[in-house]
Amino acid sequence: MVSDKSIYIKTFGCQMNVYDSDRMRAGLEKNGFRPEPDVRRADVILLNTCSIREKAEHKVLSLLGQLRTLKDRDPHKVIGVAGCVGQRMGRALLQTIPALDFVVGPDAIDRLPGILEEVYSKGSRVVDTQLDGGGRVYSQPVPSAAWARPAEFLTVMKGCDHFCSYCIVPFVRGREKSRPIAEIIADVKRLVAAGAKEITFLGQNINTYGKGTAETLSQLIDEADRVTELERIRYVTSHPRDLNEELMSQFGNTPKLCPALHLPFQAGSDRILKRMARFYTQAEYLAKVERLRHYCPDIALSTDVIVGFPGETEEDFKQTLHLLESVRFSGAFLFKYSSRPGTRASHFTDEVAEPVKEERLERAQEIAYGWIKKENEGKKGRKEKCLIESLDKKGSYYMGRSLSNKVVHVLNAGAACLGKIIEVEITDATVASLKGYYVGAPKVSRQMDPKISASVPPA
Ligand code: SAH
Ligand code: SF4
Ligand code: F3S
Repeated sequence: MVSDKSIYIKTFGCQMNVYDSDRMRAGLEKNGFRPEPDVRRADVILLNTCSIREKAEHKVLSLLGQLRTLKDRDPHKVIGVAGCVGQRMGRALLQTIPALDFVVGPDAIDRLPGILEEVYSKGSRVVDTQLDGGGRVYSQPVPSAAWARPAEFLTVMKGCDHFCSYCIVPFVRGREKSRPIAEIIADVKRLVAAGAKEITFLGQNINTYGKGTAETLSQLIDEADRVTELERIRYVTSHPRDLNEELMSQFGNTPKLCPALHLPFQAGSDRILKRMARFYTQAEYLAKVERLRHYCPDIALSTDVIVGFPGETEEDFKQTLHLLESVRFSGAFLFKYSSRPGTRASHFTDEVAEPVKEERLERAQEIAYGWIKKENEGKKGRKEKCLIESLDKKGSYYMGRSLSNKVVHVLNAGAACLGKIIEVEITDATVASLKGYYVGAPKVSRQMDPKISASVPPA
């Protein structure tokens, strides 16, 4: 019987994986599992994994190594791998790691309770890496919950059809499929009724939401904009090629759509962009930035960059620096290229040496972070509307996000601010975040007791 078992889930990777872990937890709880926050005490240990770079996979493999000792002590423990490493390695992972009981991919979430039943009742070792076939539409309503976080994420599509030459996602998440707008809006209403104020729609290639159906992302945004009591809408991640005029213009005319957009450019050199199979040039990217700023002059743009892609010369790299200088992003995630098995780029033989990648990463960081710091410092003395989401990581202060998606630590906010949009006067800024005081309360720091914070619902 599985009904008296406890489960510990550890999540790696992107927001989509965080969302998937929530769904796994909900599905398993419905089938009698209890959540167990202490890995040593859990009957089932499930790792929801990420495959995007080699380092991400190493983390999973080394944790599995450590878990072996737990299983040596207690052979009844059940250990499983879910998510993108599960999908990529499948049976091979089960074969190389004897302590593993099951390996599943991202499309097996609904089948998890049955898989665990099989592991327990038959003692089988199970692999389920079936990516669902056929059709452009799928259904995945969120389980109704009594309680929602102030800022919730909602997956509206899965997969990616782009096949950028470096990327593992299309291989581990399959083809693009979208959920119907009606189902998504029903979820939005449910989440709002349970306390959510902000929804971020998630998709690996969200601009093409609705592909193969009559529905589009613009329509979804418009419908969400009409949901009373929802206050903020965001979506992620956009591909520059698929960001059309209608989507860009919505930043100028859709009240609830936050003035912030994550628009990865990956590389500044047209030659490298071509090798990456990104299907745009630097000039085209900059033209979209201009259109976005035309519709919404204050829009906060953030980006992803890969340095050291195979064949990237110093001249190519300088184009990346040039783009960082020209756009002055509000946020940037910079990565060293990592070869992923099975991708087209993994066959390119002109890899950039590790020390060169390292040096380029530092140079790109210096420029990108320099602009971010400057922008953040410019906010000192200004007031930002922040949705208070939770206590910060240290459990010291309440934190929220500004409209432009900056993390703001609020030094004098109390529990009553949780889930509210409040005005915060910014007094301090670093690259990573802003600090300030809620204008509606005395300017006295209210640092929380970490012991108390432990009892507050997690973000
Ligand atoms: N679907 C999103 C994000 C994909 S993964 C998009 O298309 O933008 C997040 C980021 O990881 C990518 O934007 C890219 O910058 C980075 N990334 C993906 N594959 C990588 C690889 N093989 N090596 C290094 N960085 C990679
Ligand atoms: Fe990967 Fe490109 Fe798809 Fe993004 S758009 S998930 S980088 S293949
Ligand atoms: Fe990683 Fe899979 Fe997300 S590879 S980034 S967890 S889609």
